[in-house]
Amino acid sequence: MDSLGFFFLLMLLDYQGTAAPADDDITWTYTGLVGQSHWPQYFPDCGGTSQSPVDVVTTQTKYDPSLVHLTPLGYSQHGNKPFTLYNNGHTAVIELPEWMGLGGLPWLYTAVQMHLHWGSGGPHHPGSEHTINGLSADAELHVVHYNSELYPNMSTAMTQSDGLAVLGILIVTGEETNHAFNNILNYLSRIRHADQKVFIPAFDVQSLLPEDLGRYYRYNGSLTTPPCHQSVTWTLFHERVEISKAQLLKMETILYSSKAEDPDKMLLQDNYRTTQPLNHRVIFTSFTAESGKELSSGEVTAIVIGVMCGCVGLAVIIRFIVKTIRFFTLLHRETVVVNSSTSSWDVLPSNRPAPMPRTKEPEKAKEKKQDVALNSTSVGERKEEPSPSPQTEP
Ligand SMILES: *[C@@H]1O[C@H](CO)[C@@H](O)[C@H](O)[C@H]1NC(C)=O
Ligand SMILES: *[C@@H]1O[C@H](CO)[C@@H](O)[C@H](O)[C@H]1NC(C)=O
Repeated sequence: MDSLGFFFLLMLLDYQGTAAPADDDITWTYTGLVGQSHWPQYFPDCGGTSQSPVDVVTTQTKYDPSLVHLTPLGYSQHGNKPFTLYNNGHTAVIELPEWMGLGGLPWLYTAVQMHLHWGSGGPHHPGSEHTINGLSADAELHVVHYNSELYPNMSTAMTQSDGLAVLGILIVTGEETNHAFNNILNYLSRIRHADQKVFIPAFDVQSLLPEDLGRYYRYNGSLTTPPCHQSVTWTLFHERVEISKAQLLKMETILYSSKAEDPDKMLLQDNYRTTQPLNHRVIFTSFTAESGKELSSGEVTAIVIGVMCGCVGLAVIIRFIVKTIRFFTLLHRETVVVNSSTSSWDVLPSNRPAPMPRTKEPEKAKEKKQDVALNSTSVGERKEEPSPSPQTEP
C-alpha cells in the first residue's frame, strides 16, 4: 500500500511537473495550423457546448432582477508594489494583487490577472471577442478572478464550473485619450516580444472599468483561449469604455507574438476568438430597456423642472376647482345675485385687489362673502369701465 501511495505521489508530481509545459508545448494560435478551428483537437474543452465568447442578441436576453450591482473590491487600493506586465505571445497580461476581488456574486472571487483582445486596425478589423447583435467593438478588456471561497488557487478553480468570474469590458474609440489605459499602453514598448516581462507602476484598476457597473449581461461560459475550460461566470458590461484612435493603434501594432530571438517577426494582431454557439444557454441582463437607466444631470434637471411645472399646473387646477365650488356654494347659501353676464370664469381672478374701499370686518365668513360680492361687482364694474383706475391693476 505504501508503495502504491508512493507511486500515486510520483504520478501526481510527474503530472504537475509536465502538465503545464505540455499545454505550452502545443503553441496554439488564432489562425493557421493550430488556429481556433483546430483547438478542439488539442484541447477537448474548446469543442464543448458552453463556449465563449458569444454574440449577445439583445432581443433574446432575459431580465433577471436578482442580478445586483457588481462591486470591485480593492481595485483602487493598488498600493506601491509594482504590477507585472508581460507578453505571453497571445496578449498583454497584467498580474493583479490578491487583495483585489469581486463582490456581488454568490461567492467571493479574487482577482488574478487582466488582459486585452484587439483587432488589426481600420473600421473593418475590430477585435472584441463578445459581440452585441452581431456588432464587434474595437477591443475588449478581461479581468479574471477565481472563486477563492471554494478553491485554493486559479489552477484548481479553472477546471470547476463555478471556478472563475471574468469581467468583459467592450472598448470603442472616441475623441479623447483615456488616461487610465495609458497605465498599460505606455509600457507595451517594453514587452514587444513574447515572454518579455516588465514591472510597471501600480495604478487604479477601477479607472479602466465603465462607470455603470449596474447594467450588464450574465451567462455561463468558458475561457476564450485554450484550454477553454467551461468554468467562467461571465459579466459583460453594457456600457463601453472609450479610448482614442491613437491608443487603439498602439495596442494593435506594437506587440509581436514571436519571441525576441525568432528570426520571423509576427505581429500580435486579431487575438480574438470568433463567437461560439449559445446552444441552450440563456443570457441574462441586470437591466431592462427602460429601468435602471442612469440619468444624466441634464435629464435629472429636465425631470425636476417637468415635475415642478406639473405641480404648479395641478395647483392652478385645484385652485380653480376650489374657487368654483366656493363660488357656487356661496351663490346658493347667500343667494347672492350675480349679474347674469358674469360667469364663474370672470370671477376666477378674485385675488386681484378689490377696487372698492374695504371696511374691516372681524368675521372671516363675512369677509369671504364680501370678497365674492366685491369681486362680482368689480368684474361687473370692469366690464363697464374700459379704463380702470391704476390701483386695480396688479
Ligand atoms: C493549487 O492548489 C492545489 C490544491 O491545493 C495544489 O495541489 C496546487 O499545487 C496549487 N497550484 C498552484 C499553482 O499553486
Ligand atoms: C450557470 O450554471 C449554474 C449551474 O448549472 C446555474 O445554477 C446558473 O443559474 C447558471 N447561470 C446562468 C447565468 O446561466
